[in-house]
Amino acid sequence: MEPSVLMPLPALLKTRDRVVLISGASRGIGRAVAEKLAAQGYRVSLGLRDPKAFKPLKTKLPASRLLTHPYDARAAGSAESWVAATAKRFGRIDAVVANAGISYRFSIETGDEAELDAMWETNAKGPMRLFRAAWPYLKKSGTGRAVAVASLSAKRVKSADFAGYAMSKYALLALTHSLRFAGWDYGIRSSAICPGYVATDMTAHVKLDRARMIRPETVAEIVALALSLPNNASSVEIPVNALLEHSY
Ligand SMILES: NC(=O)c1ccc[n+]([C@@H]2O[C@H](COP(=O)([O-])OP(=O)(O)OC[C@H]3O[C@@H](n4cnc5c(N)ncnc54)[C@H](OP(=O)(O)O)[C@@H]3O)[C@@H](O)[C@H]2O)c1
Repeated sequence: MEPSVLMPLPALLKTRDRVVLISGASRGIGRAVAEKLAAQGYRVSLGLRDPKAFKPLKTKLPASRLLTHPYDARAAGSAESWVAATAKRFGRIDAVVANAGISYRFSIETGDEAELDAMWETNAKGPMRLFRAAWPYLKKSGTGRAVAVASLSAKRVKSADFAGYAMSKYALLALTHSLRFAGWDYGIRSSAICPGYVATDMTAHVKLDRARMIRPETVAEIVALALSLPNNASSVEIPVNALLEHSY
């Protein structure tokens, strides 16, 4: 159960030896999060569609501190087997970063409904399955953290073209809010990180100078902060603007 509110909590949680799962860590934001958390002393479990293709992190970790495991957000049972392997290796789970995601154009008039389904499954249902599988361990942690890499597209819609992506990310934000209620009494805190343009493969098509986009390493810093906020400092939504566009 949650520690007594009468005990003073640290300004930030100690990161050393905490166990974190990160999905989609092969590249982009997830890779930057893995690098950051490994450097902070977490024991790191990476869910990857192709673990054999994974290139070692800059922080060299022994097998006692790093697990790479097959994970496909769209495959039933995949989250459960990754979580079980992580618990077996490390004996506990303190945090989950649901980062894996995809983006396709889909509007009311154009777009392939199979791609809409793929976004729903990867961006909304995948994180739900992953948090659900890890939930018993997060409850036991006392300071469990459930972080979703959502998007500013979870907060606002700025064109017709990415209606499907926004639908999936609004759903992910709703899930994150619901986790806040489900986990509060157990010390679980949930956060949705909501960045605008980040310079990764996902934005390769965007006609905007990449120097003006958010760096994946910056998102990783924000994820790290969300993971280490103490139980009495919960931030369920963290919008991050690359450009002056809206008031969040
Ligand atoms: N880039 C942006 O501007 C931006 C802005 C806001 C939010 N986001 C969100 O941030 C997250 C990471 O995006 P990114 O920009 O880093 O994109 P990215 O470079 O395209 O990387 C996407 C990651 O998700 C993984 N992935 C995709 N489908 C998967 C599945 N079915 N199962 C497991 N893993 C899967 C990919 O693995 P593979 O290597 O195997 O394909 C890859 O590791 C996404 O949720 C995205 O929606 C991105």
